[in-house]
Amino acid sequence: MPQSDLFGAPAEAGDAATPTPAHTPAPNPAQMAAALRAQLNAHAHRYYVLDEPSIPDAEYDRLFQALQTLEAEHPALRTPDSPTQRVLGQVLDGFQPVRHAVPMLSIRTETDTEASGAEAFDARVRRELELPEDAPPVQYAAELKFDGLAINLRFEAGVLVRAATRGDGETGEDVTQNIRTVGQIPLRLQGEAPPVLEVRGEVYMRRDDFEALNERQREQGGKTFVNPRNAAAGAVRQLDPAIARQRPLSFFAYGLGEVQGWAVPDTHSALLDALAALGLPVCAERTVAEGATGPRGLVAFHQAIGAKRDQLPFDIDGVVYKVNRRDLQERLGFVTREPRWAVAHKYPAQEQMTVVEGIDIQVGRTGKLTPVARLKPVFVGGVTVTNATLHNLFELRRKRVRVGDTVIVRRAGDVIPEVVGVVPAAAGADGLPLPRATYVPNFRMPRTCPVCDSTVLREPGEVNHRCTGGLFCAAQRKQALLHFAQRRAMDIEGLGDKLVDQLVDAGLVRTLPELYKLGLLKLAALDRMADKSAQNIVTALEKSKQTTLPRFLFGLGIRHVGEATAKDLAKHFGQLDRIMDASEEHLLTVRDVGPVVAHSIRTFFDQPHNREVVEQLRACGLSWPEHDGASSIDPATLPLNGKTLVLTGTLPTLSRDEAKALIEAAGGKVAGSVSKKTSYVVAGEEAGSKLDKARELGLAVLDEAGLQALLASGPAATAAPEPGDTAPSAPHHDTGVP
Ligand code: IVH
Repeated sequence: MPQSDLFGAPAEAGDAATPTPAHTPAPNPAQMAAALRAQLNAHAHRYYVLDEPSIPDAEYDRLFQALQTLEAEHPALRTPDSPTQRVLGQVLDGFQPVRHAVPMLSIRTETDTEASGAEAFDARVRRELELPEDAPPVQYAAELKFDGLAINLRFEAGVLVRAATRGDGETGEDVTQNIRTVGQIPLRLQGEAPPVLEVRGEVYMRRDDFEALNERQREQGGKTFVNPRNAAAGAVRQLDPAIARQRPLSFFAYGLGEVQGWAVPDTHSALLDALAALGLPVCAERTVAEGATGPRGLVAFHQAIGAKRDQLPFDIDGVVYKVNRRDLQERLGFVTREPRWAVAHKYPAQEQMTVVEGIDIQVGRTGKLTPVARLKPVFVGGVTVTNATLHNLFELRRKRVRVGDTVIVRRAGDVIPEVVGVVPAAAGADGLPLPRATYVPNFRMPRTCPVCDSTVLREPGEVNHRCTGGLFCAAQRKQALLHFAQRRAMDIEGLGDKLVDQLVDAGLVRTLPELYKLGLLKLAALDRMADKSAQNIVTALEKSKQTTLPRFLFGLGIRHVGEATAKDLAKHFGQLDRIMDASEEHLLTVRDVGPVVAHSIRTFFDQPHNREVVEQLRACGLSWPEHDGASSIDPATLPLNGKTLVLTGTLPTLSRDEAKALIEAAGGKVAGSVSKKTSYVVAGEEAGSKLDKARELGLAVLDEAGLQALLASGPAATAAPEPGDTAPSAPHHDTGVP
């Protein structure tokens, strides 16, 4: 690693990591480690807090590994602020108690979610400060009330030494190990660091991280989390730091605990600015409501944030108003465990209880069947919700949801409302919860698609049920049309998202064949469709009729049949009808076709509707060249069976693609790079390093004529015997041996 890399970093206070002039001896390990730490911590701040990465991930990894190596060689250099310490840590038996130097308080909540909530707080503050009627307005800092959990971070001489939960406010738990895995939390503060600085704030999980985590859990059939707060709390209190690390957390600073040797700014807003300058994440959604705006400003903030609450990347349950001046805060003091100078002003809850009146099935664009709870209408997260997703059958079972149950519904952000759980039955006469009867579901997944009546299929190891009527199912129409028209399939130029929406919404196209029955007139009559564009679409449709079997097969959108599989199927069977009628056993003999793919193909063509669509498309004039198929050919009789060739340079008559097609037709494979496994290298004009490599390895090199001779020869192993090749075991009937 060049030294300039290491020493271009900002110097750490106390560590002599100054630029090394050319004539001085190489830096000692301590200096190198300090410089690496400083550099990595600075990059982490830019990446996690500022969201402005300044070096590629690979470069970060390289610096990280350099530091790891150095620390392995000199364990004494392993400091608590070393970025390597973010990822280490052991499984714990439990958490150690931590007594807070300054108690962690809670905050009074203004339950009135209307504007009057802010006005009542301002009136109380003015009364308690004994301000006369005509006194100027009090200045407030307004910020978000993050929905996570409170954490106290203790920095000594700028280094993060302890992180603790709130606990009962007096004593929390030591969760330093897990908090170190939070990339946004600096392990060392930037700039001039005081002897002791305790920073308080909220650890939370972003909604996208939460959704991704739950999606992952669902796919693996694991337990899902109720909401981001629970997921965050679980991660912070996770005894195994390796698991904690897989649950991405974020952090916002909003206050202080114990402070020694630091001039605390005079106002709360200045304090937040100062914390940001130390490298701590501070939320940008904040304001100071001052002057004549006073409580009006607070109301405006509450409303403005309320309007954008859904668009925020994380959950909030309200906003917080704090008297901005610290001297006034001190005058106001505390009642019990709550400061008189701060209040939380809530928003409508994002979780509510309601009753499941039924469970319906929704079929998505891709054919996925989703059970959806039909709910007694309920106001949640600011809107009235009547439906909530249950995701899949297994999630429904795990949550033990039944029609008639009272459930908790969550709606946060733009995410679809979901049923997060069942409310346990009410208490019995003895006051104890009624025992929950053994779960007997009163919902079944349908065997056929509620939209098109095609067979419903769930693949082994999959949690989702799917409709197999891809081409016919109204729910999947748009998706099917777009897939069919795409460049790699039928290549119908001009038939994109917008036009498909228009055609389907206007009822002009319901199935693929109807595309080809669209005349110029119908197309030109569409909104914003110029005559010329309509003509272009007609021409593109006409042109697409001459296609190839692999393109057509791929275009049908059979689950698991991608371009490569479509090619393999076409090559093996040669004719569409043979594929449509092939048994699963026969399909399994095709290269790269396994049981799941074979079953998917078989089920697709077992749906009469899908077969009908194919027939109609052929009747519309769609056609492609067919052949007898490779199934009748014994692959062992092909001249290049089992051989791998590499092409390099320009051949005199064949293009790259032509040469490749000929080699593949002769049973060979074309690879991109030369290795010991390469059977032949075919070299043309201006062959480059591949040819050199071939010579180095002593491989057989051919020119185009040599290739042609090989193609015309008999079965592979006898055509060009190589050391170690054994004689072909099967074919003895061939006559093409030279
Ligand atoms: S200030 C002295 N500010 O709300 C006041 N708290 O009951 C201490 N919270 O557990 C809290 N966002 O976790 C403050 N911007 C914010 C907050 C906030 C969320 C949480 C905090 C605490 C609870 C207060």
